[in-house]
Amino acid sequence: MVLISGGGSNLAALLEAAADPGYGATVVAVGADRPGCAGLDIARAAGIPTFVERLGDHPDRDTWDAALTHAVAEHAPDLVISAGFLKLVGARFLAEFGGRYLNTHNALLPAFPGIHGPREALAYGVKLAGATLFVVDEGVDTGVIIAQCAVPVLDDDTEESLTERIKVAERVQLVEYTGRLARHPWRVEGRRFVIDG
Ligand code: GRF
Repeated sequence: MVLISGGGSNLAALLEAAADPGYGATVVAVGADRPGCAGLDIARAAGIPTFVERLGDHPDRDTWDAALTHAVAEHAPDLVISAGFLKLVGARFLAEFGGRYLNTHNALLPAFPGIHGPREALAYGVKLAGATLFVVDEGVDTGVIIAQCAVPVLDDDTEESLTERIKVAERVQLVEYTGRLARHPWRVEGRRFVIDG
């Protein structure tokens, strides 16, 4: 199950990988927090069930969180992947899916959490940027790290060029690790994520 808010390039990569039966994972549904995002079209074109749960359609955040939890639970996913889902989920959602709700973030955590990872990495002057796949917890981008990949920051980079370079590596990582988690047992030991095999 994949949650999105935007273009859905990560979703598209997962769908492409999942077309191979040996991959080990399928996308059972795609949810979004806003209608009209391109990722929903990608899902529909692939024949995947979709739903939209807008925060603004609910009286408060807790009600939205409960509705999102219910919508996701209907598809009984083993893993829930936030691929550019720009909302923080709440306690209800984490009670149901905590430990198997994963997010991909476009920075090398714990540096540059939040929604402007590439911009802040560029402004800070780091020479390596990248992406982090992690298990979502109550914090903002603070969960246990599953995998990280690095890309160089070039002297002539703009926020756009760096963001795009990160996205390319991020997609490969997300596809690789989602498949590995579907095919192999894994566990969390303290802050360490361990995959057996
Ligand atoms: C990813 O780079 C993710 O790290 C960031 O938003 C991007 C999602 O892109 N939070 P897409 O919607 O999968 O194309």
